[in-house]
Amino acid sequence: MPQITINGEPYEFEKGETILQVAIRNGVEIPHYCWHPGLSVVASCRICLAEVWAPNPRNDNRLEPIPKLLPTCQTPCGEGQAVYTDSPKSIANQKAVMEYLLINHPVDCPVCDQAGECYLQDYSYQYGRGQSRFEEDKIKQPKKDLGPHVLLYSDRCIMCTRCVRFCREVTGTAEIVVEGRGSTEQIDVFPGIALANELSANVIDLCPVGALLDKDFLFQQRVWFLKKTPSIDGITASGDNISTEHNNGQGYRIKPRENLEVNKWWISDEIRYGWKFVHDEARLRLPAVRGEEPFEPAEAPVAYEAAYARAIELIGAAKKLALLASPMLSCEDTFHLAELVERSGRPSVMGVGPIPRSGEDRVFAGGYTIHAEKAPNARGVRRVLGCFDKSVREFDAFLGAIADADTVIVTGNYPSDWVTPKLVEALRGKKVILIDTLPTALVESADVLLPGATWVEKSGTFENAKGRLQAFFRAIEPIDYAKSEAQIAIDLLAAFESGEAAPPGELGAEAFDAARTRGALAARGLQDFVASVHVPEGHGKVEADMVLVDL
Ligand code: SF4
Ligand code: FES
Repeated sequence: MPQITINGEPYEFEKGETILQVAIRNGVEIPHYCWHPGLSVVASCRICLAEVWAPNPRNDNRLEPIPKLLPTCQTPCGEGQAVYTDSPKSIANQKAVMEYLLINHPVDCPVCDQAGECYLQDYSYQYGRGQSRFEEDKIKQPKKDLGPHVLLYSDRCIMCTRCVRFCREVTGTAEIVVEGRGSTEQIDVFPGIALANELSANVIDLCPVGALLDKDFLFQQRVWFLKKTPSIDGITASGDNISTEHNNGQGYRIKPRENLEVNKWWISDEIRYGWKFVHDEARLRLPAVRGEEPFEPAEAPVAYEAAYARAIELIGAAKKLALLASPMLSCEDTFHLAELVERSGRPSVMGVGPIPRSGEDRVFAGGYTIHAEKAPNARGVRRVLGCFDKSVREFDAFLGAIADADTVIVTGNYPSDWVTPKLVEALRGKKVILIDTLPTALVESADVLLPGATWVEKSGTFENAKGRLQAFFRAIEPIDYAKSEAQIAIDLLAAFESGEAAPPGELGAEAFDAARTRGALAARGLQDFVASVHVPEGHGKVEADMVLVDL
């Protein structure tokens, strides 16, 4: 394989690869602003320039310096090239670029949301000169409201044009332009046209500095306090790879996680902001039993004991039991609920909850797809139910098939009210055990209500629209006294089989473990749950990198 050297170390390259790509692939840092793997190459920021020596065929292939520094983001590797990013000429360029970029920059890091994840800040430490020689007045540029999600602080912009290229090449909407020339040029939108495409907030992630900011996250949290947990889109069928960023049990933002086979570097605004129901004031927080006074938070163990007692009484008395498994549940939740129904020994019927859709699938210019299906796991739920009940029913067929069922376990976990009049009608006169997260018309009429946990609050597996199984991890603890559907089903089964209900933890019920459940799914013939689940690399708790000092 052909080789180049970077700062004296040899690296192999494939034909067509640029110097910067080889450096990144091998963990060698070359500073870069305008280059991004998902966008065209413009080589405009000039920070990645390096001194390159190349073999000269007219001089016995002896290495000779190329007179000008070359942009490593744009220069293809050539056999035998020697690249120096640490030579005096390269270092002088890096310092000059940094000085130039900071001439009109307000250096307002203490009040900038990007502080802590800003490449201007990082490169300033690594490649800058440490002090400014600029004594003239800085040019002040305005703040602009670009659209529903994005603010522009123009005076922090370094004109890398990543945002401009994103809107041309990935969304195909071209709302963002460079306006003006020289030191007064600015990023802008056309008059009357907001940055309102459905992927608009990706420009915030792309912006290497604090120029494009997220209105939703603005001044909410310092980024060095945030912990990242790898997760999967929990509200559409895309299976987009995301990170949930949180601190002290509260979610603050969702960011895309790079996966070239699924979502590349992008997510839709719907996925980025659609998780807010996790902290909805109206979340269901405590169990309830119809006919009993609502429980107080201090009585949570009593509430669970009463709710479990009533639920196992209903399951025990059922002549026919029905399970409606929501497509918002994980495969593991579905497994434990179906196992509860199977081990109750009652005749049963199982079905998949309603699958919300909105319009048609839409593919953007850069290939990103917004899925019309607004549930993360319809296929996974179907697949898991299928190993308990060969005739798993879709929602409408399920409603038709439960006429002779007297007890129904209903699960929701949708981000908004999902209960249809048809469902209310079909459940009339039946005993209902409801596990849900938000209030709906069923909450008042259910015989037993158990508060469920959203996908951010539990671990599990989703199967996306393309049949890809992907694991996600709990980012924060469930709100108040809510539990995952899997844990509720495990607790109920333990209570049912022992014949008594007790406060959680007193029946010896296992704590839910998603990996163990995947093993149980494989044991039932679904080998994919061991062999083919995609688990995020390097999953683990990422701690803040600040040293915490006890005062
Ligand atoms: S706003 Fe950000 S992404 Fe856009 S050109 Fe300026 S620095 Fe680059
Ligand atoms: S990253 Fe190479 S010129 Fe900008």
